[in-house]
Amino acid sequence: MDEAFEKRLPNPEDLGAMTEESLKAAFAGESQAAERYLVFAEQADEEGYPHVARLFRAISFAETRHARNHLRVMKGIGATAENLAAAFGGESFEVDEMYPAYGEIAKAQGNAQASRSIRYAVKAEMDHKRMYGEAREKVLVGQDLDARPVSVCLICGHTVIGNVPDKCPVCAAAKEYYKTF
Ligand SMILES: [Fe+2]
Ligand SMILES: [Fe+2]
Repeated sequence: MDEAFEKRLPNPEDLGAMTEESLKAAFAGESQAAERYLVFAEQADEEGYPHVARLFRAISFAETRHARNHLRVMKGIGATAENLAAAFGGESFEVDEMYPAYGEIAKAQGNAQASRSIRYAVKAEMDHKRMYGEAREKVLVGQDLDARPVSVCLICGHTVIGNVPDKCPVCAAAKEYYKTF
């Protein structure tokens, strides 16, 4: 068979462009639905509907299963060093391009709430970028991270490895507002 013709044959390993686009869109949609349902569950709890909250939480979990199945088929999961590089890349994009641009838009439109929500996110993403970068350096030489807790401010998402500060440096929430992993 001539070589040029052979190159045009579909590689059975390839998903096909439309399948890849479909899975990307489905992954984004399912991921968003999962998060939205968790927030809706909190709201249902606050309104005194614990069993509606349960339904939202269970279906949120189902959506995460769909999202991860799609991601797997898209070959979006690599070895941990590759995954850390992908995570570092995503956080870098948010810090260096996405949020600076979104922040300018919010400022230009005078939307203080959007500005704050973006400011909270960008501060945390800077830390995430650094943490993923440091973790990758370790994994590349076959080492795990040190056994230290990682904590997140429930209000603004500030992320800290090791001791929790008395007050969140980003949103000033008290120590009790951190969730530790
Ligand atoms: Fe992040
Ligand atoms: Fe905070």
